[in-house]
Amino acid sequence: MHLAPSLLSCDFTRLGEELRTIQSADWAHVDVMDGQFVPNISFGLPILAAARRASNLFMDVHLMIDRPERYLRDFADAGADGLTVHVEATAHIHRAVQQIHELGKKAGVTLNPGTPLEAVRPVLADVDLVLVMSVNPGFGGQKFIPQSLDRIRTLRRWLDELGSPAELQVDGGVSPTNARAVVNAGATCLVAGSAVFGSDGAAAGLERLREALK
Ligand code: DX5
Ligand code: ZN
Repeated sequence: MHLAPSLLSCDFTRLGEELRTIQSADWAHVDVMDGQFVPNISFGLPILAAARRASNLFMDVHLMIDRPERYLRDFADAGADGLTVHVEATAHIHRAVQQIHELGKKAGVTLNPGTPLEAVRPVLADVDLVLVMSVNPGFGGQKFIPQSLDRIRTLRRWLDELGSPAELQVDGGVSPTNARAVVNAGATCLVAGSAVFGSDGAAAGLERLREALK
């Protein structure tokens, strides 16, 4: 079970400090948005590179950008440990996964809430991570879409049938209220932005999530 706090909700004026506060989490989730694939623009390579210099956490980079294959090498060089690409963002998802592996990084695939799960099925055996988006990507602080639980269960079954050890990650609206249900549905990795970096700080936020999972 991994927790992956999303840096999108952290205080960027204190990035290094925020990363130290989440050191006990296993991963840092890094949301890259291009204003094209999603309506919002977040941040890119220099912020990832700064996070990399400040922390040895596993840098889990979620690329919400069109044709991500154009930038895989750059994000790998900037310090990504894992790169997750959207099936909707490329005509060549299989090739993108191959490219990520050639760069020596963990390869993840993901899909929007409105995309049929079948879209990731052809590459399931090849990936290290599958991410179920439980909100429409683009913004932190949105409400968890309840139908996501069924999607997690289906992907859990498909991964188990393949004997795949891939992480089943869930991203969007994860909170102490639903974290247990998400894990019970078969998730192995929870992304959480606003639930971690709340007004009382990341240490308290992480603690609440851990409590909920006990
Ligand atoms: C949404 C991003 C998420 C986001 C999650 O597009 O992919 O990683 O930061 O934020 P919360 O946990 O607040 O929904
Ligand atoms: Zn994300």
